[in-house]
Amino acid sequence: MANILVTGGAGYIGSHTCLELLNAGHQVVVLDNLSNSSAESLQRVQALTQKSLHFIEGDIRDGAGLDQLFQQHKIDAVIHFAGLKAVGESQQIPLAYFEHNIAGSISLAQAMQRAGVFKLVFSSSATVYDEANISPLNEEMPTGMPSNNYGYTKLIIEQLLEKLTIADERWSIALLRYFNPVGAHKSGQIGEDPQGIPNNLMPYVTQVAVGRREKLSIFGSDYDTVDGTGVRDYIHVVDLANAHLCALNNRLNAQGCRAWNIGTGNGISVLQVKNTFEQVNGVEIPFELAPRRAGDVATSFADNRRAIAELGWQPQYGLEDMLADSWNWQKQNPNGYR
Ligand code: NAD
Ligand code: WQD
Repeated sequence: MANILVTGGAGYIGSHTCLELLNAGHQVVVLDNLSNSSAESLQRVQALTQKSLHFIEGDIRDGAGLDQLFQQHKIDAVIHFAGLKAVGESQQIPLAYFEHNIAGSISLAQAMQRAGVFKLVFSSSATVYDEANISPLNEEMPTGMPSNNYGYTKLIIEQLLEKLTIADERWSIALLRYFNPVGAHKSGQIGEDPQGIPNNLMPYVTQVAVGRREKLSIFGSDYDTVDGTGVRDYIHVVDLANAHLCALNNRLNAQGCRAWNIGTGNGISVLQVKNTFEQVNGVEIPFELAPRRAGDVATSFADNRRAIAELGWQPQYGLEDMLADSWNWQKQNPNGYR
């Protein structure tokens, strides 16, 4: 069992990962500045697991704070979720994205090096792939120039971390390229709680279902896909959380930097999401067909064979579970953690 620092652990994916880490018997320290989350998520993680974790409200950009954390806790490895993630916002305030995501990751890696901690699992994104690649996307395919500043920060961080492992063989780094995380823990006690109007499809759908939004706008119905709407690879957040535990195990006995896709390998259209949500949950989702959203691609789904073969990871949940669990969370928490 290991002592794990989870940056951004109060957030959507981080809270689910903390729960799985505690259930697996690890000790967990969370560092989060709560800029996009609530400490309530961690209270609920502790209630669900009947185990405690150590929460520090702080920022990854604060090197002195990180030094203190590493002095007070003997950390074996770091899972790094902290950062800003709103694609549209990243076009409005790019410097904030460069600072929190890129400078924040550098600050974290510097503090890790000072503390002699060299195992890192990083939250990357399928957005790093060149848009010219044809799905299923595999890890050998070229990365490209992401169409937005958020994606650009993920690409830069991946490259910086890879160079770090080349320069110093003590580092061992996993780059997990997430596809589209959705769903929630079965209990419905923790889940995705976006601030303001959701950017992503699933929280928008559940907010329409719960009556917080009038109708879903489907962005684009003239793509070259099964029904004209955009196709993505939705992955249950609990499966995604477990991928971090598998990557951690892999990195404890390895050197260097390696990327893994974390998706189910199934391409699902927006209309399929809407229709299946209605069937599984017995709730109607009013919708309109709207113009395409700038920056969207028609189709993106994973070739996940490398993660299955090398990490011993296997997604357990299908689309119906994802949609039922997203709704279970939203229904029990119509206003999220507030
Ligand atoms: P989230 O916003 O729920 O979690 C991120 C957490 O980091 C939040 O709790 C926030 O308060 C914290 N944070 C932000 N800046 C910080 C800073 N400077 N110092 C300390 N804490 C800080 O997002 P999420 O959906 O859980 O995503 C987690 C990670 O996964 C992010 O790096 C995100 O870019 C990446 N990712 C997410 C998706 C997705 O669709 N959700 C897809 C691919 C990659
Ligand atoms: C999915 C599909 C939309 C909202 C983004 C980021 C990516 C990663 C995950 C990470 C698309 C359509 C959406 C709506 C819609 N982020 N849609 N109506 O764009 O695949 O990926 O989130 O941190 O980097 O780019 O996810 O959920 O926004 O969209 O029709 O109200 O749903 O056009 O086809 P996307 P998404």
